[in-house]
Amino acid sequence: MSERKEAKVSLEDIALQNEYIEIMKAENEEDYEKTHKKKKALIVTYGCQMNEHDSEKLMAMLDNMSYEQADNIDDADLIIYNTCCVRENAELKVYGNLGQLKPKKAKKKDMIIAVCGCMMQQPHVVNEIKKKYRHVDIIFGTHNLHKFPQLLVACRQKQTMVVDVWESEGEVVEGLKAARRFSLKGFVNIMYGCNNFCTYCIVPYTRGRERSRKPEDIVNEVRELGQEGTKEITLLGQNVNSYGKTLEEKVDFAQLLRMLNEVEGIERIRFMTSHPKDLSYDLIEAMRDCDKVCNHMHLPVQSGSSRVLKKMNRHYTREDYLKIVHDLKREIPGVAISTDIIVGFPGETEEDFNDTLSLVEEVGYDSSFTFLYSIREGTPAAKYEDQVPEDVKHERFNRLLNVLNPIINDNNKKLEGKTLKVLVEGLSKTDKTKLMGRTETSKLVNFSGDKELIGQVVDVKITKAKTFSLEGEAL
Ligand code: SAH
Ligand code: SF4
Ligand code: F3S
Repeated sequence: MSERKEAKVSLEDIALQNEYIEIMKAENEEDYEKTHKKKKALIVTYGCQMNEHDSEKLMAMLDNMSYEQADNIDDADLIIYNTCCVRENAELKVYGNLGQLKPKKAKKKDMIIAVCGCMMQQPHVVNEIKKKYRHVDIIFGTHNLHKFPQLLVACRQKQTMVVDVWESEGEVVEGLKAARRFSLKGFVNIMYGCNNFCTYCIVPYTRGRERSRKPEDIVNEVRELGQEGTKEITLLGQNVNSYGKTLEEKVDFAQLLRMLNEVEGIERIRFMTSHPKDLSYDLIEAMRDCDKVCNHMHLPVQSGSSRVLKKMNRHYTREDYLKIVHDLKREIPGVAISTDIIVGFPGETEEDFNDTLSLVEEVGYDSSFTFLYSIREGTPAAKYEDQVPEDVKHERFNRLLNVLNPIINDNNKKLEGKTLKVLVEGLSKTDKTKLMGRTETSKLVNFSGDKELIGQVVDVKITKAKTFSLEGEAL
């Protein structure tokens, strides 16, 4: 198999893949005739919602090939690792897992191991796997996910490792169905790739340049989801605020939200991720006006220091960010704001870090993902000489959590006694006699109520607030 090539994706390619799906299906069904055991497949997913959604697309292909879902590695005839490389620890986990599979594969020779996702877009990773993890059967990347059936058939026919990674993106691939893990909620890609090149981030190198799906394709997909019973959709893109820039037809994200707000059956619309530099006032107004668009904004700040933001290539200052927060809070009462923060970016001084702490206090976040800066080879910041020592990063990280958690807790406490709309997702994970769901602001609520309520949006009175969840009772 050739590797690291560039190509375009056509409708014929998708049709061709359906033929390969049929070949694998026939093989698996023939096997079932003999063994009376269905072939089982497991997908292990790391990273963000993009990857989760890609795994759903792979799962749909596997379903069509007559694979059953395996419960664990020992049970699986086919294992796919869908990898992430945004931070070093995500990569280390994958190498660890692949290492553990070696003795298993030695015992179960016809087991197939595939690796895909963002890590595979880096040539040094592919070389490492080819050298040190020779028990891997298939390697593919983020741009040619749709080709998995063909690669699987090639792997069955040849006895060598099949490697096919495209260096750059083709056109937007339409027509790939996803097996939605949870039909009440669905992910919908609105765009792929990223053009922002934040200096710490590997994503633009693994996901290619920004390209938007056509609004009619998105609306059709959401309409279908609405007809199938999906209540909540999450629109996905690395920077949804620059949606539409690559389209001939001039449609922006605010307009897209207004279109989707009209789709029947859908009750809630979420989106991620919003880059502050491209957040328009039109978007704030669309959020305010569209009843289905949730009052929640995930708005990664990364740092509270304008000096660090500049070195990160984020194209906004602390003041720009605070202005957006101010506008959001004014136009959308009760809006929840969450964020991503990186601690210990190269050159971050005590003063810069204190700026992050004071920004966190000023915004009053509802939740936050906090990360230790992790060097990513190939990004500009990896070469910066003023790297922050590990112990300083850890110490700042803990101080940040000590400031963040009480703020989050205080915000939740303000909800005690209030009645909130909750989309009931299922039974509570912590107490099976209770139900769980999320508020419009994305807060997790465990509450007492009838099982019949699952799938509905109901009023829940909040009785107790904790830092990471709320408790309540259905009215
Ligand atoms: N496109 C999105 C998110 C991309 S990755 C955005 O721009 O917000 C998700 C988060 O991972 C980022 O927001 C950032 O906080 C974190 N991240 C990315 N690269 C990182 C690195 N090298 N070290 C630590 N955290 C990182
Ligand atoms: Fe990475 Fe920045 Fe793009 Fe987000 S916007 S994916 S952080 S480069
Ligand atoms: Fe997502 Fe990780 Fe790739 S965060 S885009 S899976 S590098």
